[in-house]
Amino acid sequence: MKIQVPRGTQDILPGDSEIWQYIEQSAHNICERYNYKEIRTPIFEHTELFERGVGDTTDIVQKEMYTFTDRGDRNLTLRPEGTASTVRAFVQHKLFGNAAQPTKLYYLGPMFRYERPQAGRFRQFVQFGIEAIGSNDPSVDAEVIALAMDLYRELGLKNIKLVINSLGDAESRNAHKEALIKHFQPRIDEFCSDCKQRLEKNPLRILDCKKDRNHELMSNAPSILNYLNEQSSAYFTEVKQHLTAMEIPYVVDETLVRGLDYYNHTAFEIMSDAEGFGAITTLSGGGRYNGLVEQLGGPETPGIGFALSIERLIAALEAEKVELPIKTELDCFIVAMGEEAKKVATKLLYQLRKAGLSADKDYLDRKAKAQFKAADRFQAKRVLIIGEDEIQKNVVLVKDMESGEQQELSLDSVINEIKEVEGE
Ligand code: HAM
Repeated sequence: MKIQVPRGTQDILPGDSEIWQYIEQSAHNICERYNYKEIRTPIFEHTELFERGVGDTTDIVQKEMYTFTDRGDRNLTLRPEGTASTVRAFVQHKLFGNAAQPTKLYYLGPMFRYERPQAGRFRQFVQFGIEAIGSNDPSVDAEVIALAMDLYRELGLKNIKLVINSLGDAESRNAHKEALIKHFQPRIDEFCSDCKQRLEKNPLRILDCKKDRNHELMSNAPSILNYLNEQSSAYFTEVKQHLTAMEIPYVVDETLVRGLDYYNHTAFEIMSDAEGFGAITTLSGGGRYNGLVEQLGGPETPGIGFALSIERLIAALEAEKVELPIKTELDCFIVAMGEEAKKVATKLLYQLRKAGLSADKDYLDRKAKAQFKAADRFQAKRVLIIGEDEIQKNVVLVKDMESGEQQELSLDSVINEIKEVEGE
């Protein structure tokens, strides 16, 4: 049997990897503008981090983690998301002690979840996420949302929708929790086994159940927005005002609860509205997680962030038929004929590359015609021809592949002349 990639994973080959690089570069650039700094944490962590951080009633912890014991009998897990690791690092390295607060971090890397693979859902996927830790200012919530929306828009997405909700503070959530228990308890037998478990521990998660989503008790379940205390309600109003100030349109959806335990106050998702986009329309999600830093052993510190996967972003670009402006051409391709010319070509190629130009040549001992074909395949802007005549005269024949014009240039000046044109 031929060995293939594991289920739910994919190879990204040339032709596609340029798209990935373009998006990744855009993510780095936008973080620079918003003043978020990159953090890189390990791909695996102690399992306990996610149990405590993400929450042991979540699908992620209960069903989706790639957990293993290493040779030293440690219980480790491939990270299913980036927030827990980022907060762990924030606490471990006492970043709360730095003068510059809030601590604004971003990450870009693979995450792992044992989910049922389908369009837009992988077992290894790449998340770009940001975390702003150390501020309770509602304008930070709006900033996190703005960065996410800006990235999508800059890349050319038009059909995106921002959905927000507030999950309130602990007091509001407790009042809501009681109301939810009262609402669901009398008929909990009609719900799935997961929901039965959720009832006491985290009834909010019942609202996120995929199996029971059409049960009649779902549509008239108590709304968190009716249980927000004054402070939480005022906070939510301010977040919305900051969004309005930036002219970022949003829809409030009181049923948006998110699948991770650490959220409170602001929760949001960005969806694709594009026609033909698959069943999973959520492109990214995030929210506030005041309390998580303490839970992971740090001082009382608020936080908010979001994450998106590049896979779903690319799916949205495809659904909207957005073409990214990706440079695929080669600055120069050398066509060399004859043994002597090949040596000159090797040296010239080395110098072209050192001078910052992209350049290549033939390595299969092909005839001139086939070498030209290769130049075409690489979309070379110009071909540098070296034959016996050129060697004699110490020149190179430079052919512009777009206009077809040819020009003889001395070997000593050819690089500078090309660089001058490229610099224009
Ligand atoms: P999440 O909603 O679990 O939140 O995931 C965020 C995003 O990751 C999703 O909206 C989706 O784009 C992508 N994603 C999740 N699972 C998959 C999958 N199996 N295949 C492809 N893409 C996937 C979090 O992870 C939170 N840590 C976000 C956050 C950051 N909250 C605060 N800070």
